[in-house]
Amino acid sequence: MNVAHTALRKYRSWYRRDPTAAAYAPGRVEVLGNHTDYNDGFVLSAAIDFGTAFVAAPNGRRRCRLVAGDLMREVVFPLDDPAPFSDHSWPNYVMGVAVGLNEMGALETGFDGLFFGNVPIGSGLSSSAALEMSATLALAALSGTTIDRIETARIGRRAEHEFVGAKTGLLDQISSLFGRENHLVLTDFRTLDVSTVPFPKGHVLLVCDTKTKHSLGESDYNERREACESAAAFFAERLDRPVSALRDVTVDDLERYRAEMSHTDALRASHVVGENRRVIEATACLESGDVAGFGRLMFESHASSKNNFETSCDELDFLVEEASSHPRVLGARLSGGGFGGSAVMLLAECAVSSVVETLLPRYHERFGVRFEPHVVRVSGGAATFEVDA
Ligand code: GLA
Repeated sequence: MNVAHTALRKYRSWYRRDPTAAAYAPGRVEVLGNHTDYNDGFVLSAAIDFGTAFVAAPNGRRRCRLVAGDLMREVVFPLDDPAPFSDHSWPNYVMGVAVGLNEMGALETGFDGLFFGNVPIGSGLSSSAALEMSATLALAALSGTTIDRIETARIGRRAEHEFVGAKTGLLDQISSLFGRENHLVLTDFRTLDVSTVPFPKGHVLLVCDTKTKHSLGESDYNERREACESAAAFFAERLDRPVSALRDVTVDDLERYRAEMSHTDALRASHVVGENRRVIEATACLESGDVAGFGRLMFESHASSKNNFETSCDELDFLVEEASSHPRVLGARLSGGGFGGSAVMLLAECAVSSVVETLLPRYHERFGVRFEPHVVRVSGGAATFEVDA
């Protein structure tokens, strides 16, 4: 499905005119480095070939019209000082972005906008970042403003914090913006240096959407973040070097002080410290062609999400367990916030059907539902596109 084409067609049929700006932004898969972004740590991620197109034109008023292209449902909100909707969250991502752009002087008037995408919602593939980033690029283009990519990512994060209530890091937005075909995105979330590493040839990422979400909204995520901050504060008081985030804590520090820490904070800190190490090791594996070593680190990462960060669930554990006993899966782990969503697996391209055919009936037998498999292509990042006739 060409989402850009569909968004344009729906825009013309709803508004009876052409949009004047358009952008496409992909979803993302987190490949290694879980809950490390807001701890100033490292992540390897990829933009995927599922995304959202946002099309818009200025309307000369101080109010914004927004249509969700899948439902063909319209909401209207004021450009100045809008209050988030409480009955559905999708407009809030765009509202947050519009407020950010308005404050920067990058939005001259309200707009008539529409978005349409194919990132499965609730799958942990960041349909929200795809929406935020496509909206930010398209709306900035209405006034001809060019915004630096890191600043663009921050506009999306602010929308999540202030209009959705999730205290997320910058991972989803950066992955969507910096994606590169056949390359993983390596981000240092302290310096915000972003580089890319070639994805191993002949291999694919198989995303298995569990179709479940066990979280009670944003509160579980925010609670994990608070525990990490509390653990960082603990070390800041004890170590004789500056600690501003868990990035500054080593495995040795953890071992030395574990007994003095709250049990929960020690577990959370172990996860983050271990994940940072694994991302560095995994990058070296990629650079030396050790795909199997990379895969082992993915399994280790999942075990840590399960046991230390406690953000997994039965469905994800089952899929990763089954994957680990399948001879053709090199690595598997949960991806993203956790509590459901998707498992990501690394395997040779030629092994996909064998793996899916083995796992599907077992999962069905255990949970009574099917997981949804997607072979995702490691893709390029967000960009504006021409509105042609
Ligand atoms: C969600 C958040 C990201 C990141 C991941 C976990 O996707 O939006 O900022 O924290 O969870 O790594």
